[in-house]
Amino acid sequence: MITLKSEREISLMHEAGKLLAKCHKEIAKMIKPGITTKEIDQFVDDYLKKHGATPEQKGYQGYQYATCASINDEICHGFPRNEPLRDGDLVTIDFVVNLNGALADSAWTYGVGSLSDEAKELCKVTEQSLYRAIRQAKPGKRIGDLGFAIQSYVEAKGYSVVRDFAGHGLGPTIHEEPNIPHFGMQGRGQRLKEGMVITIEPMINIGAWRSQMDANGWTARTVDGTLSAQYEHTIAITKDGPVILTEQESV
Ligand code: MF3
Ligand code: CO
Repeated sequence: MITLKSEREISLMHEAGKLLAKCHKEIAKMIKPGITTKEIDQFVDDYLKKHGATPEQKGYQGYQYATCASINDEICHGFPRNEPLRDGDLVTIDFVVNLNGALADSAWTYGVGSLSDEAKELCKVTEQSLYRAIRQAKPGKRIGDLGFAIQSYVEAKGYSVVRDFAGHGLGPTIHEEPNIPHFGMQGRGQRLKEGMVITIEPMINIGAWRSQMDANGWTARTVDGTLSAQYEHTIAITKDGPVILTEQESV
């Protein structure tokens, strides 16, 4: 069942989203060769607690960390670890903030030190694909319009869209209906309605779209070892169009 949120619920989720966006801006300043994803995870855990919030992912279906930290060919759900990040790495930090019971979810791929041209281009195209989909996120559009906006754009650039993970409805729990695939056909799927809150979170690979699961049962990585990037926002569908609840530029 898809739950529609009231204006009040959306404004509480927006408060969670603003805190999340501020935390991402702090993370951006910390990312340097030598720092570990364990240190970033600890920072996020402390930052949220200091601001009266909690990391919703910790304990979710047995997941043990505040953040997911996925490096290079890891697509998503990487575990924070004690291994220093190296110059040229890509690292995606993904977390869900719970502020007064309201949730917000956003992932961002960061470059460590100086990136190769191919890594930079992947990040740019992946971020742009997210914003292309967001422009479609208004009442009357369909879920297929979102996936189409992403897939048509990234495939024209020679990249592929991960199909094994999707965006989702959000709040009061992390994963709600509807499922939001990042590929699809225009005019297909359910219609978006005012009051829906969804995530859009394209995971884009340089090589093949297929993923394989690590032995830890969580972490997905590309089958061919190529780089993967991901940008995710939480979006409210309002009568005036999409509102990005986790926008970093607005905080
Ligand atoms: N933030 C993730 C998403 O975008 C959810 C991760 S669930 C966890 O869907 F358990 F891995 F944390
Ligand atoms: Co997320």
